[in-house]
Amino acid sequence: MNRYREIKDGRLYFDGCDTTEIARRYGTPLYVMSHSALMDKINELKGDFIEKYPGARVAYASKAFCTLGMLELLKREGFCLEVVSGGELYAAKEVGFPPEMIEFNGNNKLPSEIDDAVSYGVGRIIIDGLKEIPLIIDSCKKYGRKAGVMIRVTPEVTVDTHDYISTGEKDSKFGIPLDEEILFPVVKEAIESEYLEFYGLNMHIGSQLFEVEGFLKALDALMDWAGKIKEEFGVAIREVNFGGGFGVQYTNEEVKPYRYFLDPLMEKLQERADEIGIPCPVAIAEPGRSVVAEAGITLYTVGQIKEIEGLTKYVSVDGGMGENIRVALYQAEYNGIVANRAEDTPDETVTVCGKYCESGDVLIKDFKVPGTIRMGDIFATYSTGAYGYSMASNYNNNPVPGVVMVREGKSCWMVKPQTFSQIIENQLIPQLL
Ligand code: LLP
Repeated sequence: MNRYREIKDGRLYFDGCDTTEIARRYGTPLYVMSHSALMDKINELKGDFIEKYPGARVAYASKAFCTLGMLELLKREGFCLEVVSGGELYAAKEVGFPPEMIEFNGNNKLPSEIDDAVSYGVGRIIIDGLKEIPLIIDSCKKYGRKAGVMIRVTPEVTVDTHDYISTGEKDSKFGIPLDEEILFPVVKEAIESEYLEFYGLNMHIGSQLFEVEGFLKALDALMDWAGKIKEEFGVAIREVNFGGGFGVQYTNEEVKPYRYFLDPLMEKLQERADEIGIPCPVAIAEPGRSVVAEAGITLYTVGQIKEIEGLTKYVSVDGGMGENIRVALYQAEYNGIVANRAEDTPDETVTVCGKYCESGDVLIKDFKVPGTIRMGDIFATYSTGAYGYSMASNYNNNPVPGVVMVREGKSCWMVKPQTFSQIIENQLIPQLL
């Protein structure tokens, strides 16, 4: 139980709101985000990093949960923002996110996206392609601007996480390889162009990580190359981006505070900078999941229940892989509760599944719920705030659910649910038919 979730009168409350009441009022399936939980993470990052280390910045990885409300909150809190597409940048512009606070990442930025980024004046473009610099320079010429750039490198570390979310290995589509013949020409171009201002190096080794060792190894590799860049070009890197990836609790993982990762990273950064003989670079962290995951739950209404004697009891809910693809995609495990029977003993093992035409459409496999569970009950899955809404699909023409914000007993819409007509609004009967 995290501190935003409480059981009262047999029901689940989230940030002071009765979730069964929220389900009744707003309908299900429904994503629910706790303002208090978001603020706790924001404040933890301020205390552990932004206010502790001079110049340190947090660029929230918007891919985890990119909505206007979330971006507005971060803007007000003075956070930076990492975007990886024209679409995420568009949302940032919509809330008037200060351009200099935006970092644009991505392994295949489209020329049109680079145009958008340069014309808006984003603070940093993170180079992650061998032929990217000419595109950036073209845009700079077009808009008469200079662009701040960093270079994302592949630090060649292996981390303990799902293969699909491990990104620091040599065999990765992300990052420029740490190889003189490949990296140096990119650095040279970045340093020499009158259109670019070169700031430093980026890494992101993977996601849902619980140990600092991988980060430290990667930072070591990155700083080795900061040393080589100094030797070769006489240039001191001024910034280092540690990436994101800090792990969260889905079931019973033991979550570490940000300082567990960031203090040793900062210590190493200073140590290695001293060794190379450059001022300690400004550090940037890029968390996504850890800011939003535990701040979100998803509410469902229980429908059909099917028991196969001696095998499995399936409890179907009114959503599924459309708003939570993570189970099918990464075999992710979740925890949850029957929100209106929160005090009944969980004495039956069931598989909670969705309504999509796909056998892999499961939310929680082999999960204990009260045997009293029946149609019309409200089921809540926990820790769904990250990569749920942002990875939602319209499979089976199911609309993407809305998002409600809850805050100390109050609630309001953050995103309205999609309608059937919105799903088909761009579809045409072709003239050639
Ligand atoms: N920075 C970069 C360059 C990234 O690629 C990512 C995530 C982050 C920061 C943020 O990582 P986080 O703190 O959220 O772990 N859809 C997957 C996760 C993909 C992560 C992609 N990159 C999932 O649902 O587990």
